[in-house]
This record gives sequence, structure tokens and C-alpha cells, in this order.
Amino acid sequence: MPAAPVPRHIAVVMDGNGRWAQKRFLPRVAGHKQGVEAVRTLIRGVSERGVEVLTVFAFSSENWQRPAEEVSFLMDLFLRALREEVQKLHSNGVRFRVVGDVSALGVETRSLISEAEALTASNTRLCLNVAVNYGGRWDIEQAIVKATADGDPMAFAHWLSFAGQPDPDLFIRTGGERRISNFMLWQLAYTELFFADTLWPDFDESELASALAWFAGRERRFGRTSEQIRDPATSPA
Ligand code: IPE
Ligand code: IPE
Ligand code: MG
Repeated sequence: MPAAPVPRHIAVVMDGNGRWAQKRFLPRVAGHKQGVEAVRTLIRGVSERGVEVLTVFAFSSENWQRPAEEVSFLMDLFLRALREEVQKLHSNGVRFRVVGDVSALGVETRSLISEAEALTASNTRLCLNVAVNYGGRWDIEQAIVKATADGDPMAFAHWLSFAGQPDPDLFIRTGGERRISNFMLWQLAYTELFFADTLWPDFDESELASALAWFAGRERRFGRTSEQIRDPATSPA
């Protein structure tokens, strides 16, 4: 039997941290803290399987509307992760990138992001994109602004944050909601969408294995017929 196809790019909406904590009578932020563990497990799992790109949604353009204490906890958690995890990512061959409007982030956070991106720029095992203050609409708008300034608005796709990377093959959203929540609007056009009721901090190796097994069973047609996919000779050149 041929090996099951592995997605080149997996994009993840890590949802359900607050509910994970509330179920345990803990403050919501305890769920965010535990969620970091699940990210570590995910990075290990996808690296082992040869996935090229992993994008995780850490903070959306809309998440600023949360209570101020939760927003500042999330920003501190990200800062701490930058301080503590980057060396490890680097030694594991991970290229680290942040996608999103970083201009709204703190000075120290921005400088650690730049350092981490520079340090890991030539790593090739896995590219990890962390989406922070990211929104799919923001990305399209900023790309149009840059493309217009460059004199060719129609070429805006070259200015999107994910330009040069393959589009996601597999989208995973935990936490039970069946929505995109302004994630990667342009890039998800033909992505297989996997929704799990599991809350993000509980998303472990076996949950990843289930998502990948589900993905392996999809027939990706990109507008063609099933017959064309099974017998490429029947397709027009
Ligand atoms: C996702 O978990 C993490 C972020 C949005 C930062 P939530 O915090 O949205 O958790 P729920 O959906 O309230 O359970
Ligand atoms: C999406 O989760 C954003 C992140 C996981 C960072 P939300 O919890 O913010 O999404 P909505 O508000 O339920 O759509
Ligand atoms: Mg949520």
C-alpha cells in the first residue's frame, strides 16, 4: 500500500483554551498556559512526519476585544515563549516566522521576533508560522496597499504574508466551532477542513493522528471530476 499522503502545510485554529480552564474551575488564562504544551506536542508530531509548514493562530485581529487582563496575559505568554523556546526550535531545525501586524506589539516582543526570525532563517526541517495580531482581511488589505504602491494592484497576492509558501492542505480547528474566524481567507480556498470538538489543550498526538488519517482519506479534486483524479490520462493537458 502506498504511504498515506502527508499535508505539506497544516494550519491550525487553536480554540477552546478558555473552556478547558472553566471546566476545571480555573481562570481562562490557565487554559492558554496549558495550550502552549499542546503546541509543543504538535510541533514535534508534524516535524516527525515531514510536514513542511505549520501555521498556528495564536491571536487574531479581533482578540484585542477581550478583557484587558486576558489580552495582556496572552501577550506576556507569547513574550515568554519567545524567550524560552526559540533556541530549542533552532536546534530542532525549525524556521520561525511571525505573521500579522506586529506594529501593535511591544518593543521587546518585536525585537525578539526579529532576532528569532534572523537566527532561524536558514532552517529547513519545518517552517513554523505563528499568527499574532493576524486577520485574513488585514492581510489582504495590507497586500493591496503594498501592491498599489508598487504600481500593480492586481499582483497583490505576492504581498500576502504567506507568499512563497504552499497553501494549507489541511486546516484543523479544535474547540467545536465550525468557522474560519478570519484566518487565512485567501489561502484556504482549497484546503481540507477538519473540525474537532476537542478543546485545544487536550489536542495530543493521537488527535493529530486522527486528523491526518481523515486527511489521507480525502479526494482532492480542485474542480475536476473523480474520474479525472483517478485516471489523469482522461484530463485535458
Ligand atoms: C483560543 O482559545 C485561544 C485564543 C483565542 C487566544 P479561547 O480563548 O478562544 O477559548 P474559548 O473558545 O473561550 O474556550
Ligand atoms: C480564533 O478563536 C482565534 C484564535 C484561535 C487565535 P476565537 O475564539 O477568537 O474565535 P471566535 O471568536 O469564537 O470566532
Ligand atoms: Mg475561542
